[in-house]
Amino acid sequence: MTIAITAVSGQLGGAIARNLIETADGETIIGLARTPANAKDLGIEIRAGDYGQPEQLRASLAGVDTLLLVSGMDAPDARIQQHRNVIEAAKAAGVQKIVYTSIQGVEEGTAFSPVVQSNRQTEADVRDSGLAYAIGRNGIYIEPDVEYIESYKAKGEIANSAGAGKCGYTTRSELAHAYACLLRNDTLNGQTFNLWALPSVKPSLPIT
Ligand SMILES: NC(=O)c1ccc[n+]([C@@H]2O[C@H](COP(=O)([O-])OP(=O)(O)OC[C@H]3O[C@@H](n4cnc5c(N)ncnc54)[C@H](OP(=O)(O)O)[C@@H]3O)[C@@H](O)[C@H]2O)c1
Repeated sequence: MTIAITAVSGQLGGAIARNLIETADGETIIGLARTPANAKDLGIEIRAGDYGQPEQLRASLAGVDTLLLVSGMDAPDARIQQHRNVIEAAKAAGVQKIVYTSIQGVEEGTAFSPVVQSNRQTEADVRDSGLAYAIGRNGIYIEPDVEYIESYKAKGEIANSAGAGKCGYTTRSELAHAYACLLRNDTLNGQTFNLWALPSVKPSLPIT
């Protein structure tokens, strides 16, 4: 089986790739990156993978069985079409299964809501693709909040995940383990999982 990871030059894509490489059992792991040079340290085949380049995506997905789509970084409206470019290229290239990294959070009333809404649209596009799929809804990455701790202390609060917008924290390496499971375990297909970590609570619970 050949597994590909998009945005593999980024922190989440790279963490997922490293987890898959370390645990591979005869699979081929390849990376797609907008800037392939940024991912050369992974030591796997890296192909061009700009979400804005449909033909490039289609060519780079040749021979891929299972695809991990990392949500993009552009403005929420722009991301929807970028993600559709990846989904359509996967279908055209003969990919069998797609796993998407979505986000937790409320769809109205917070600063993150436009991002959450765009992720919900891509979730719908993945479900409607006709491909086998699994979707993870990521909690808040804790690493950036650790980096921002001095500014939070100066401000006197951490405003992330507060009030009606509460959701759990997670690390990217925990997410990498979860996505490796979603990629490989077909009994999880067709489901959407909240992914976060709490002591003594299972990190992933199916929500649909
Ligand atoms: N849950 C949370 O708390 C949280 C927080 C932040 C972000 N996120 C989401 O999680 C995703 C991954 O986060 P991260 O920490 O891994 O981000 P990151 O380290 O900043 O990496 C972003 C990645 O996106 C790639 N990229 C940007 N535009 C692209 C395009 N048009 N086509 C293809 N690739 C493109 C970058 O490629 P280059 O090497 O070419 O720049 C890079 O690999 C983000 O994109 C965002 O959707 C979630």
